[in-house]
Amino acid sequence: MTDDTVLGRARVEDRPELQEYYAKLEELSAGALWTVANDIEPWEPKSKSTPTLWNYEALRPLVLQAAELVTPQDAGRRVVWLANPSRREVSAAVGWLYSGLQIMLAGEWAPAHRHAAAALRFIIEGEGAYTVVDGERATLGAKDFVITPSGTWHDHGNEAKSGAAIWQDGLDIPFVNAMEANTYEVHGDGRQTAEGESNRSTASYTAAGLLPDTRWDRRYSPLLKYPFERSYEALGSLAEAQAPSPYDGYVLRFTNPTTGGHVMPTMGAQIQLLTPDEATQAHRHTGSVMYTVAKGEGHSVIGGKRFDWKENDIFCVPSWEVHEHANGSASEDAVLFSFNDLPVIESLGLYLERPFEDGDGHQEVTS
Ligand SMILES: [Fe+2]
Ligand SMILES: [Fe+2]
Repeated sequence: MTDDTVLGRARVEDRPELQEYYAKLEELSAGALWTVANDIEPWEPKSKSTPTLWNYEALRPLVLQAAELVTPQDAGRRVVWLANPSRREVSAAVGWLYSGLQIMLAGEWAPAHRHAAAALRFIIEGEGAYTVVDGERATLGAKDFVITPSGTWHDHGNEAKSGAAIWQDGLDIPFVNAMEANTYEVHGDGRQTAEGESNRSTASYTAAGLLPDTRWDRRYSPLLKYPFERSYEALGSLAEAQAPSPYDGYVLRFTNPTTGGHVMPTMGAQIQLLTPDEATQAHRHTGSVMYTVAKGEGHSVIGGKRFDWKENDIFCVPSWEVHEHANGSASEDAVLFSFNDLPVIESLGLYLERPFEDGDGHQEVTS
């Protein structure tokens, strides 16, 4: 039912005496709820974000140009951010999530800092880049997934002899700002001194259901880097073991190995495999999702609009928007990395999901 004239909805008809009354309330910093109630309490979740695709091939030259225009020392972070056309005012790529493309040339480094906002990275291209998170150094290879949880010191650099490393950043900045709880600090030394072996958490938490005997009581995963090679292998193994999800193909969630829960309290991530020619059914759910094409080509239909994608393209699915994905190749895998705000949605009990039941379970493409 979505009829705003039914009993239980605000259905006061406007009258001159009401206008006078509203004006008096406004003067006293007050208002009549029935004038806004139907807007602020929609029948179903209503996203302000626009389904959007960011074409990597088109953006890449501009990301490279940023390296000619500013230094990472002056920019803080030299990033081209992905602005959702209807969320620019809160610097969001979708919902309350921020995303951007960061470039680091050979020999460069960016100063150490920390913030209340949590961050994650998905490496798009280049070799030789590294990040140091609370003293642990992680080398960054293409398609690797790395977390920089809330409050952890982090700095980045590129030790390659030539070329550029480009990675996608994902942060909960808009959410933390909406909560009016963000903080920012710069590290007094400019760069952290890395301790111990590089990638030591990746070496310690090798999955396979095994945990090292260390105490870990923080609210985020002790595993910082999830190498793509391992994730892709795990997807292949899953595909041999069971049937795909009707809405996601073969999908695996990145987890905090000590809890099995999401990697961080505010942002989760997953990786999914669409086998050759696979096309999922459409569904909708609460939570905002940013997808990056890790491999292959295909398309997604989001809110009736078709978005064709290929490797390194990025696209978003706003909360409650109907969506479905298809691998466009008859012989090659398509792999999608994605990050989301599901830990927030789930921990607040706000997760809703509904299959799209019209016709054959696929949307009619309207544009
Ligand atoms: Fe940061
Ligand atoms: Fe979905």
